[in-house]
Amino acid sequence: MNSQPLGAFRFYDNHPQPADFYEEVLRGLQHRPKFIPPKFFYDEAGSILFDAICELPEYYPTRTEMALLNQHAEEIAELIGKECLLIEPGSGSSQKVRLLLDAFQPAAYMPMDISRNYLMNAAQQLSEEYPWLEVHATCIDFTADMVLHFCPADIHKVAFFPGSSIGNFEPQDAAVFLQKVVKMVGEGGGLLIGVDVKKDKAILDAAYNDSQGITAKFNLNLLSRINQELDGNFDLDAFFHKAYYSPEAGRIEMYLISKTAQVVTIDGQRVSFEEGESIHTENSYKYTIGEFARLAETAGLELVDVWMDKEELFSLHYYQVK
Ligand code: AVI
Repeated sequence: MNSQPLGAFRFYDNHPQPADFYEEVLRGLQHRPKFIPPKFFYDEAGSILFDAICELPEYYPTRTEMALLNQHAEEIAELIGKECLLIEPGSGSSQKVRLLLDAFQPAAYMPMDISRNYLMNAAQQLSEEYPWLEVHATCIDFTADMVLHFCPADIHKVAFFPGSSIGNFEPQDAAVFLQKVVKMVGEGGGLLIGVDVKKDKAILDAAYNDSQGITAKFNLNLLSRINQELDGNFDLDAFFHKAYYSPEAGRIEMYLISKTAQVVTIDGQRVSFEEGESIHTENSYKYTIGEFARLAETAGLELVDVWMDKEELFSLHYYQVK
């Protein structure tokens, strides 16, 4: 018989309104050059496609980071201490946290994600798999706000931000986000973060141009989301996916390119495209360990330890609030 009390499951809904999606998309498409913020990739179909990306042979970050988490979970748990409140902004499928839960034995886990149904299912499943764990799932746009609906004052708080999602922020916005994390975890709090590193352009280009075309589908899914949710009429066959590493900027740049001159309407609003015109949909910054530690330092974080695989593809950092 299991003598541990059953962990509670709670769901808090702060999902952004569709009006926010409409306004941000329109603002981005009226801008020159056109852009759409990458957070809009993650409706349910987008989250599923992203999971498929993580399984791709070319997409090294997921498997490399998972190996690091697996290998060093106990060592990290020693640094963090047991019974923390473990908060994961952008938790997606909550796959990676499974590698830590037994070692960390957190008092509670708080997954946060913008994709409501996906979060609900993933968090509920996790809660069933770990009956001892208290799960407080929060549907939220963590790039805008990080509200802790469950926040006992006496618990040591640790944020878990794997997958190099930090790379999808512009560096100055990454610093602002890290400041918000510092505020959220408070004095004595910690941050365990995965950061993709600068490397050979060929490896990076392949990771964002997979041979099965899943990354292209993930990118194009943005347009089908606009069609479904905002009454758009994008023809998905009239755009193609483009992604490349810019060593000068230290980032992957991802675009949707219009194959022809065309006019698209979104809820009656006309948006025109020239042939070859792009919508910038994502940047994915890569950092050396030193570059990232300096950025984190500006946000009030001090590097405690860092782990890297032998091939130096990916890094995992643990920081404490200074
Ligand atoms: C979520 N994020 C860290 C991914 C990345 O690598 O920047 C998103 C992604 N875009 C294309 N492939 C994966």
